[in-house]
Amino acid sequence: MLFKSLALTAAVVGSAVAQRPSNESICDYYTTALLKNNTAANQLTLLTLVVNTAVIGNYTTPNVGIMVPGILAPGTFNGTDVNLAPYFSGALASTNTGGSSGMSVNFLDGGGADPLKMNKPANDTTSNQYILLTHLYEYFGTLLGCSMQGTSSDYVAYSGDESMYEVHKFMDLSAAEVGYFITQVALSGASFGVTAEDLQPVGTALSTLFGHRCSAATVVIPTQQSALQAICIDDTCPVAVTDANCTAYTMAAVEPVSANSSNIASSTAHGTATSTGSSSATATSSGAAATATKNAAAQLGVGMAAVAGGFAALLL
Ligand SMILES: *[C@@H]1O[C@H](CO)[C@@H](O)[C@H](O)[C@H]1NC(C)=O
Ligand SMILES: *[C@@H]1O[C@H](CO)[C@@H](O)[C@H](O)[C@H]1NC(C)=O
Ligand SMILES: *[C@@H]1O[C@H](CO)[C@@H](O)[C@H](O)[C@H]1NC(C)=O
Ligand SMILES: *[C@@H]1O[C@H](CO)[C@@H](O)[C@H](O)[C@H]1NC(C)=O
Ligand SMILES: *[C@@H]1O[C@H](CO)[C@@H](O)[C@H](O)[C@H]1NC(C)=O
Ligand SMILES: *[C@@H]1O[C@H](CO)[C@@H](O)[C@H](O)[C@H]1NC(C)=O
Ligand SMILES: *[C@@H]1O[C@H](CO)[C@@H](O)[C@H](O)[C@H]1NC(C)=O
Repeated sequence: MLFKSLALTAAVVGSAVAQRPSNESICDYYTTALLKNNTAANQLTLLTLVVNTAVIGNYTTPNVGIMVPGILAPGTFNGTDVNLAPYFSGALASTNTGGSSGMSVNFLDGGGADPLKMNKPANDTTSNQYILLTHLYEYFGTLLGCSMQGTSSDYVAYSGDESMYEVHKFMDLSAAEVGYFITQVALSGASFGVTAEDLQPVGTALSTLFGHRCSAATVVIPTQQSALQAICIDDTCPVAVTDANCTAYTMAAVEPVSANSSNIASSTAHGTATSTGSSSATATSSGAAATATKNAAAQLGVGMAAVAGGFAALLL
């Protein structure tokens, strides 16, 4: 069904996208441009396409000719090598599921990249992968102003942790790592025809909310409480421009250690496999995908370089 609607409208990509009226959200505008009816289900499809593409790289055919390496692929940002895959594969003890220290969780336990290529979050509804991906669809949907989100079970509101700092605090992410992540989101949007003019405020918002150390507690999801949101916390991260409050961030930023027998999250409520065997298996397969996309990344076009450059500038 998803493929059908995608095929139906793919021909429109590149031509339908003119100028977004100022009274229409980015989500609503591009849902209508790419999928016609501005329904909750179509808004979720748009966010699924954008998030999945940001995570695994461009997989839909055709796109507007912009190559997206993907968050799971190793790359560089501002001259620094970046490899975010270990934060997803469970190779690092970097999640906040263990209280005072980082724990290893395999977020590729729902089939890895294959279900994402089928416009799904995972091959089940209970894996860590399913929870992470659906949270991303919901969180970014609110950031992009999806007007139908929360109006029906087709596309529910985000109800995960209100603090992005809490979720990421054991990852010790750097400016290059967060910059790479945000750039992949931007490239994904661009690959579906989102204009530079529309990407710019999104990049600025992501950088302001999550890309600065010591940023004051704030509300991101309107129905949630104010909370600390900095994802970029190591000393390469710029300090928040306004209202910086470093004392609010009480825990020292510490580099996560490798997964070992004592810091792998015990089997979750749904009994997800978290053995070393399964996490190294997924790490290997995502590594192969990463190599493929890295090779493709060597052929970056002018269009993508311009977008990436624009985003790098925004992160200053
Ligand atoms: C935006 O404004 C135009 C013209 O003022 C109007 O026709 C349209 O219905 C508005 N759209 C929304 C979503 O409010
Ligand atoms: C849009 O929604 C209306 C009403 O639900 C439906 O009749 C129509 O077929 C839909 N169009 C598309 C292109 O999905
Ligand atoms: C990704 O996009 C680039 C540029 O359009 C294209 O050359 C490449 O084939 C795409 N990759 C996939 C897997 O669709
Ligand atoms: C989902 O994918 C994982 C990893 O490939 C596999 O172990 C599992 O059996 C799959 N589950 C379903 C329901 O297909
Ligand atoms: C900074 O954070 C601390 C700890 O949460 C809080 O007590 C203090 O009021 C904050 N300072 C400002 C200026 O908001
Ligand atoms: C496993 O990691 C923990 C920190 O998460 C560390 O304290 C412990 O020494 C490590 N154990 C082994 C066997 O390396
Ligand atoms: C890129 O790196 C340089 C030197 O380390 C730094 O001054 C600059 O702020 C960085 N730019 C971005 C966008 O992170």
